[in-house]
Amino acid sequence: MLQDTSFAIHPGHDQQSRPMIYKDIGALITKEQSGNRHQFTCENGFVSTVFYTDTIVRVVMNPNDTPSLTGSRAVITETVDVAVTEEESDTELILKTSRLALHITKTPFRVTVKDAEGYELVGEGERGMSFQANGVVAAFKTMHPADHFYGFGEKTGHLDKRGESYEMWNSDVYAPHNPETDPLYESIPYFMTLREGRAHGVFFDNTFRTTFDMKSSEEMYTFSAEGGQLDYYIFAGPDPKSVLEQYTYLTGRIPLPSKWSLGYHQSRYSYETEEEVRALAQQFVEKDIPVDVIHLDIHYMDGYRVFTFDKERFPNPEKLIADLRDMGIRVVPIVDPGVKKDSEYAVYQEGVREDHFCKYIEGDIYFGEVWPGISAFPDFTDEKVRSWWGDQHAFYTDIGVEGIWNDMNEPAVFNETKTMDVTVMHGNDGRPTTHRELHNVYGLLMGEATYEGMKKQLNGKRPFLLTRAGYAGVQRYASVWTGDNRSFWEHLQMSLPMVMNLGLSGVAFTGPDVGGFAHDTNAELLTRWTQVGAFTPFFRNHSAIGFRYQEPWQFGEKYEQIIKKYIQMRYQWLPQLYSLFYEASVTGLPVMRPLLMEFPHDEKTYNLNDQFMIGDNVMIAPIMQPSVTDRAVYMPEGTWVELATGEVYEGGMTHLVHAELEDLPIFVKQGTAFMQGDWTSNVDKQPQNVTLHVVPGQPGDTYQMVYYDDDGETFAYETGVYMRLDIEVRTTEDGVDVRVLSKQGAFTPAYKAIKVATVGQNPVKHVMINGSVSNEPVIDL
Ligand code: GLC
Repeated sequence: MLQDTSFAIHPGHDQQSRPMIYKDIGALITKEQSGNRHQFTCENGFVSTVFYTDTIVRVVMNPNDTPSLTGSRAVITETVDVAVTEEESDTELILKTSRLALHITKTPFRVTVKDAEGYELVGEGERGMSFQANGVVAAFKTMHPADHFYGFGEKTGHLDKRGESYEMWNSDVYAPHNPETDPLYESIPYFMTLREGRAHGVFFDNTFRTTFDMKSSEEMYTFSAEGGQLDYYIFAGPDPKSVLEQYTYLTGRIPLPSKWSLGYHQSRYSYETEEEVRALAQQFVEKDIPVDVIHLDIHYMDGYRVFTFDKERFPNPEKLIADLRDMGIRVVPIVDPGVKKDSEYAVYQEGVREDHFCKYIEGDIYFGEVWPGISAFPDFTDEKVRSWWGDQHAFYTDIGVEGIWNDMNEPAVFNETKTMDVTVMHGNDGRPTTHRELHNVYGLLMGEATYEGMKKQLNGKRPFLLTRAGYAGVQRYASVWTGDNRSFWEHLQMSLPMVMNLGLSGVAFTGPDVGGFAHDTNAELLTRWTQVGAFTPFFRNHSAIGFRYQEPWQFGEKYEQIIKKYIQMRYQWLPQLYSLFYEASVTGLPVMRPLLMEFPHDEKTYNLNDQFMIGDNVMIAPIMQPSVTDRAVYMPEGTWVELATGEVYEGGMTHLVHAELEDLPIFVKQGTAFMQGDWTSNVDKQPQNVTLHVVPGQPGDTYQMVYYDDDGETFAYETGVYMRLDIEVRTTEDGVDVRVLSKQGAFTPAYKAIKVATVGQNPVKHVMINGSVSNEPVIDL
């Protein structure tokens, strides 16, 4: 159009063809130290290193200025005093804690991180910290032939991410969730490297669009960002569990979830009326199929206005919620960030009047289209807005709601870029910056606003929050579901590595839409998926508008009975799962684990995608293909007992296992134990009986476990009203010896005692409890 003006020779026309050149940080010029922080001035930029603990070090490179160490939205932990020794020669400087050593080469400036024994964790070679003139910052790290990569939050594909490259940019992706679909809704710029049984971690705390490349070279991997500082933490490990403990020490752990949130959730886009919801609840009760939560998707609202109910469809939500509560069922409504532009709508009016919405720098509100039509978006990066938004939730908590489902919080916008203009400014708690920098934390901060607001209003009850988008640290506020998957067998298969890698990324409370969201599910797929769902940390059946309904009874009696069996099984396992969730809240270790977490020296586990552990001793090997009733199961070290059949399998090899449609292969390691309760009824979900099942092993085998219980819904545990038993189980020559090593807390459960039973074919003459033989063994509480 402007070709006949000087625009035809605009210098910009040339830019496409010119590759951006990385500039190296160059040689070290000067160094200074203050406390845990070392400050380096190099030829082309500035680097700071800070020891957070003796196993965590932070490295920050800024090409233009002394690195800033404040402002992280992910990190919640301050540095502690760490003893650091320093050795210096002409060419090198070594900074050492008792567990980590930074080997810094001076010319050029290279930082290689080793453990105290000199084993290289993260190395730099020919290339190191670099940047481009356009603001891109990048780290080039040595890739070892035996390196395997895990984590990266929510990604499609297989468990081991070597040979892949990923981008972090929270995105609403309705379709297709293929192995190549990247990025998805969550950005967790963190990974763990496993090399010959030893593990370390890297967290790249940069909220711009970031890229991780373990694909382009076999000698080197790279992580880079569109802008900001090259700001990363290295975790020394030395095994997968300690890496995760270190990462979650820095970014936080899940709050202990309420028991009801660990039950079965039923959802649909949407159950559209009060009658429909009541009838649904009634079906569950009549059929004795357990359900703890019914989700209300967008149709409950008045024209999709958040914090409203449609008066025709839902004339009396308070009564609905109370009646369902009497049936033992809670209601979780969806809340999206988009606030409808409607000058007669109170939330919009208040948002505009009190200046809560995201704006362009010139002062105009940013509007984008989502479900309600043209909408404004709260600026969650400001405390004032977070607290305003949190307060709005009294609308729900006042009528008995204890859980919220946050969706579309990437934020999703129906436009070409799928999101807000990157030029929109955020207040950012006094450090204003653009959406380009803060896009990836929008969902996290909405989660913070919602969780904290709900917590304030619930008077001591634990809020439940489900979110679609997030950033590192999202686990502190919300559980995560993996978004709009489809009713494909491939998506059932993919959900395992996805949930396991989320778990390895600190997000312990996750799960996919069971049955698949879009596309029509079918009887067999729903059945097999429910078997898996019974053991994924978050267990919700959800399906999309326009596709087949997929409640447990939709495919006839035969399938209903199997599905019911597995939903009930979820509740039988709850005492064990709840103890593992307690562990996750204390240590960061996930409930559902890849085998490599328990067997990091066994290379056969490094890319095992179709089996998983629940805790450290229960292994699930589901069938995830149609018409299949046999599968290979890799048994790691130990001897394994299949629960349903009592069949014993030797570890260290692969076995063929048979499982009809009604069977889910569950194996428990010999010499260990697990806790189960019984399913009672929807109205009162507390188990009447809790049993410790001991799987005897070889004489001398000893196993320690933690059993945790409390009221399941309040924060009273924070003031000592809980019960924690540290139990030791030992296999003896002729029986098992169960000891309670310690009992803590002031909570006494209704079941008063724990029964003890043995499982498997090893003959057991007697069971000793705390030193005395008993015919009807119980642990008195
Ligand atoms: C998004 C969500 C989906 C929800 C739908 C309607 O697609 O991912 O779970 O049902 O929006 O709210």
